[in-house]
Amino acid sequence: MTNLAAEILNTERHPNAQTITKVTHFTDRLFSFRVTRPQSLRFRSGEFVMIGLIGDNGKPLLRAYSIASPSWDEELEFYSIKVPDGPLTSKLQNIKVGDDIILKTKPVGTLVVDALIPGKRLFMLSTGTGFAPFASLTRDPEVYEKFDEIIVTHTCRDVAELDYSRKLTEGLASDPLIGEMVEGKLKYYPTTTRELSEYQGRITNLIESGKVFEDLGIEDLNPETDRVMLCGSMDFNTDVRKILEDRGFEEGANSKPATFVLEKAFVGE
Ligand code: A2P
Repeated sequence: MTNLAAEILNTERHPNAQTITKVTHFTDRLFSFRVTRPQSLRFRSGEFVMIGLIGDNGKPLLRAYSIASPSWDEELEFYSIKVPDGPLTSKLQNIKVGDDIILKTKPVGTLVVDALIPGKRLFMLSTGTGFAPFASLTRDPEVYEKFDEIIVTHTCRDVAELDYSRKLTEGLASDPLIGEMVEGKLKYYPTTTRELSEYQGRITNLIESGKVFEDLGIEDLNPETDRVMLCGSMDFNTDVRKILEDRGFEEGANSKPATFVLEKAFVGE
């Protein structure tokens, strides 16, 4: 129910309701949206919150969504998949400016700079909507203050699915707030697995073969200097975790920072 509808029907607006301010559809599987930010919400870039809609049974239908906007932004941004028969996303994909969504204001998560020990290079490896937390982190000045080089990889099925990450990362250098910090520090490496493009294949294979490092003209992964954040499907996380652990990386947490951290992206429903 929208704010206006609630007023007309004289019903209570949900205490956790926030209003949609912008919706962008990228493909028939992916869209992003922006909502008003509750004043009480403080979060660290990379964290997630529970968001959703009121279901047909009148109860909130909530899922974990990484906040895609940086912590300094006045609004909140989310990046979502559309699952045709998914209980939440089949409805969420129809939201319009002015509609309400439910947003619980308790941010959590391990994809935060605090869960990593200091290092020189920060790798952010993602597939699909797993790019969302990196949309937040790559817009956060703290990341550029703490690391000399940021390498963001995003693997999707086809080129259209890279639209969100491509526009966002390409726009960073001209961003009035962080443009100067980003210049020369951020490398974006998009790859596709089901359509021809400049860089092809799963990032896992491109790391194992060394191609990603060759393409970018950088050194191979090294736990002495590098920190890694990864966010994608369960299989992706499992495969990358193994690659990293084989190379001597250790998984970190808020309570015990280490050399890599991971989070499961919103996967299906
Ligand atoms: P692929 O096309 O070879 O399955 P999805 O849209 O299904 O979430 O997948 C997003 C991207 O993640 C796809 O390009 C997919 O490649 C890739 N992917 C899926 N599983 C893995 C994995 N275990 N390791 C690396 N990449 C993966």
